[in-house]
Amino acid sequence: MTLSDTEAQARTLGGYDDASRLRQVHDRDWVLDRVTGEPGVLVDLGSGIGQLLEAALERFPSLRSAVGLERSAHRIAEATARLRPYGARVALHPADLTAPAPLPYRADVVTMTSVLHWLYPVEHRVLAWVRDHLAPGGSFLLTTYHPARDAHGLGGEDDLVRAALTGLGVPPEAVPELLDDRGVLPIATRTRPADELGELLAGFFTVEEWWEREAVVTVRDAAQYEHFHAATFGDYYASVLDPALHADFYRAVGRVAEERQRTLGRVSAMPVRLWRLTARTGGGA
Ligand SMILES: C[S@@+](CC[C@H](N)C(=O)[O-])C[C@H]1O[C@@H](n2cnc3c(N)ncnc32)[C@H](O)[C@@H]1O
Repeated sequence: MTLSDTEAQARTLGGYDDASRLRQVHDRDWVLDRVTGEPGVLVDLGSGIGQLLEAALERFPSLRSAVGLERSAHRIAEATARLRPYGARVALHPADLTAPAPLPYRADVVTMTSVLHWLYPVEHRVLAWVRDHLAPGGSFLLTTYHPARDAHGLGGEDDLVRAALTGLGVPPEAVPELLDDRGVLPIATRTRPADELGELLAGFFTVEEWWEREAVVTVRDAAQYEHFHAATFGDYYASVLDPALHADFYRAVGRVAEERQRTLGRVSAMPVRLWRLTARTGGGA
């Protein structure tokens, strides 16, 4: 079987540099603007293609070590190429953050942007890891997305996916069960409500401050969103369908996004929270 460009892209989570301009990249400077002093060690969790590490290395000459932990081998390879000019100041580690292994770092800053929902429902493991790897006085800068959710726990990207599946003949009311049957947790379930997350974080950290902004996604056309979906979600949602239907599915997601852009002036909007956390000793699992 010949794969369409989007199918191939979804398999490797490729094209993220371009796709992330629509949403995730805006977290980068928002987070780095909150770094104070002259950090020596910064650890980025779910470091993707190394964009945040690159920006941090440029901004903070004091950084001796810019460390990335990431699960995707494709993304680590892209980050390695991007960060080669920084030589020994960079270390990239393959890691599964749902079961993070100890590493010999004490970080002045730990960052994690647009990742935590992928670790649901075992986020406490990475939170304990961060607490144990912060240097005295260090900060954890975390961004979390909070789309509204319906009674089935669907919202955000799940809504676009539901509309796309409907366009392919799946009745909308059958979508929650289809996702459930295939073991695909809705993203709006993975992204816990901000209050619930605040309670979880308080078991490990002192919440020093938080800020919120609206992440509004707009697109030029259907193709641009098709690529954004593939680069961001890979075949996470497409996997509920027979592989022969994947190319149609990605096209349908693109069409739904384009229609929303035409009628609403945007594809989606949701609050994003940036938390500044410091280690709380004596708590958490
Ligand atoms: C939406 S991207 C965010 C990338 C980058 N932090 C940014 O803000 O652009 C989510 C990243 O988390 C990584 N990821 C997801 N689950 C993971 C896990 N269990 N362990 C390590 N990395 C994971 C993905 O491979 C991907 O690079």
